[in-house]
Amino acid sequence: MKTIMLVFGTRPEAIKMCPVVIELKKRPEINTVVCITGQHREMLDQVLQTFNVRPDYDLSIMKEQQTLFDITQNILSGIRTVLEEVRPDIVLVHGDTSTAFVSALACFYMQIPVGHIEAGLRTYNIYSPYPEEFNRQAVGLIAAYNFAPTETARQNLLQEGKCAETIFVTGNTGIDALQTTVQSDYANQLLDWGADSRLLLITAHRRENLGKPMRQMFRAVRRIVEEYPDVKAIYPAHLNPNVRSIAETELQGCDRIRLIEQLDVLDFHNFMARSYMILTDSGGIQEEAPSLGKPVLVMRDTTERPEGVAAGTLKLVGTEETGIYNAARQLLDDTDAYNNMACAQNPYGDGKASKRIADLLINTELQTL
Ligand code: UD1
Ligand code: UDP
Repeated sequence: MKTIMLVFGTRPEAIKMCPVVIELKKRPEINTVVCITGQHREMLDQVLQTFNVRPDYDLSIMKEQQTLFDITQNILSGIRTVLEEVRPDIVLVHGDTSTAFVSALACFYMQIPVGHIEAGLRTYNIYSPYPEEFNRQAVGLIAAYNFAPTETARQNLLQEGKCAETIFVTGNTGIDALQTTVQSDYANQLLDWGADSRLLLITAHRRENLGKPMRQMFRAVRRIVEEYPDVKAIYPAHLNPNVRSIAETELQGCDRIRLIEQLDVLDFHNFMARSYMILTDSGGIQEEAPSLGKPVLVMRDTTERPEGVAAGTLKLVGTEETGIYNAARQLLDDTDAYNNMACAQNPYGDGKASKRIADLLINTELQTL
């Protein structure tokens, strides 16, 4: 029996890998093994709980203020023992985190084939996002099978010289997850608090934005909220203490801004569905929001998700206070501009990506590549 091991370690990977775990576990012809690195802890565990996925191995590497050195060293040494014990036929990693890169590297050292889910996203600037662009390109060098979410991602891989037979366009598994979480009768006290206003949902956490860019992002949000009496904002603060300290300085003390703890994925998806617009530097939210028809101001200088920009739902606004402020004002003042962005589009898949990936993995054609 073929053993497939999935490795992930952060919240977004878990949200996009749990649907694949659930699908693979339905297939009796496959032995499915789940290894989490624990690069995140609370944020990872809440997703596992929501999707009822129990890992077989937990490297438990997270520590406060961890550096890229800490993450890399600790995963590399921890995963070796697991790979030696499980001896998987194939290891699946996801996206662009350090967990994905280091796990793929360990597999390369042990000559175990890697399947890359969410393959082919690119900005071609290894410092933006940092270190994710490097991570995904490095995984791309190692991966034997590439599960690309979109045709654009497939084209990137082809241009880099990847063999066409190793690339499969599947859709993004994040959309699979989203289809199970959004509920029309969802209720929450915080949404009741925001119900009389236009609600901005904020997320921010990227390493390259820590410091001045993040300060500017939050200042733009505060300026908007203070200028528009019918606008309220909710920011579920990332657990990174370096993010939280900036958020506390810049956002606290305004009645119409709520700085709250991280939301469980089910809550967050429903908050997105009820918000007026989203301001974020996140990757995954750029994929989820278009299918909910929510305008997203992407507070970054680059995006590896051009499909959402082309569909009109995402706008890249940089990290300068004035740029973010002006873009938000336009969507608050100009109904046509808002409506143009607020139409539901789904460039990232039909919610069946995990099923496609599972089918491919048990397909004999794939075994012979
Ligand atoms: C990581 C990923 C990033 C992804 C993000 C999703 C890397 C290098 N970065 O960034 O690609 O977009 O996850 O959120 O792989 N912390 C906790 N509890 C948690 C999670 C984090 O306390 O459950 C705190 C810890 O102090 C930790 C810090 O946050 O040291 C940073 O976590 P880390 O995984 O290093 O980076 P992220 O910014 O979360
Ligand atoms: N998310 C969540 N709770 C929150 C904020 C975000 O569950 O309070 C979800 C969000 O819906 C998306 C994922 O977390 O699926 C995005 O994670 P993040 O922005 O941390 O990472 P990225 O996608 O940028 O790697």
